[in-house]
Amino acid sequence: MIIDNNHFVLNDGSVLPYVGLGTIGIKGDQGTFEILNALNSGYRLIDTSTNYDNEGIVGEAVRRSRLPREEILVSTKLPGSYHAYDQAFLFIQESLRRTGLKYFDKYLIHWPNPKDGKYAEAWKALVDAQKQGLIRTIGVSNFEPEHLDRIIAETGVTPATNQVERHPYFNNNRLVEADKKRGILTESWSPFGRGYLNDVLDNATIKEIAEKYGRTPAQIILNWNYQAGVFTIPKSSDPTHQKENIDSTGFELAREDIERIDALDKGEDGRVEGQDPNEYHEYV
Ligand SMILES: NC(=O)c1ccc[n+]([C@@H]2O[C@H](COP(=O)([O-])OP(=O)(O)OC[C@H]3O[C@@H](n4cnc5c(N)ncnc54)[C@H](OP(=O)(O)O)[C@@H]3O)[C@@H](O)[C@H]2O)c1
Repeated sequence: MIIDNNHFVLNDGSVLPYVGLGTIGIKGDQGTFEILNALNSGYRLIDTSTNYDNEGIVGEAVRRSRLPREEILVSTKLPGSYHAYDQAFLFIQESLRRTGLKYFDKYLIHWPNPKDGKYAEAWKALVDAQKQGLIRTIGVSNFEPEHLDRIIAETGVTPATNQVERHPYFNNNRLVEADKKRGILTESWSPFGRGYLNDVLDNATIKEIAEKYGRTPAQIILNWNYQAGVFTIPKSSDPTHQKENIDSTGFELAREDIERIDALDKGEDGRVEGQDPNEYHEYV
């Protein structure tokens, strides 16, 4: 799925850059400038969600960037309380109005909320919204293999991506493999453990590897994802960090270093907020 020039190609033929901008906490007028700065630094995919309270400024930044619309990819998500087919379909339209965009490049079901059991209905709404041109690429987030198999069986449509928690303390390699087997690209959320939720950027092994390659810990983590065939969406409001993160390829980690990073995994204890998708319920 990795193609040349640091891009991924998806199972529907769409192409993603190797890194996008995460936007949790990026809000308001200041947030618009932060997204604009990212676009000026070369970011071409912005990851948002209705639950981040910033879809409006994402649309605003896209317009103010003066970049051709087709050069920017906007990816957003369906909240858990809108999984019923009709609600999901209308919600996508509402979300578009919020951003002021005519279509989304990528749209994901945010959480499966398996106890409600309506995620397959939501998936059907995404499939139909794609057919009507409201969305280019459809995918999911936090889906376990059984959730993936159910929506594929019920619709015959395989998601293009699955956005899941993945960082060195919770590498989720099991799910990366499960996605790969189904032709789905894994996206890593919280690649740095959200900064304050864990200390992965200060980890001694990561720092040692960073020194060896003359790179920063953030760049090592992003390249570890890239070499595993995983797309990442690091959040940064800081122009220096944004630049550092987008310049994270162009070197190759040796197998032994990848294995050292993989060995930092803490299993379930490594999750930043203990959100097991089989248990977690997104109420909004
Ligand atoms: N689908 C889901 O359920 C889900 C869940 C969580 C997150 N997400 C998505 O994933 C994105 C990323 O995850 P996240 O926001 O949780 O956190 P993250 O990207 O793991 O970490 C962000 C933190 O790292 C810092 N940082 C960024 N680049 C850095 C660098 N080069 N050096 C040092 N520090 C750096 C940021 O500070 P500065 O801003 O100061 O740079 C911020 O404090 C989210 O924003 C969101 O779009 C999706």
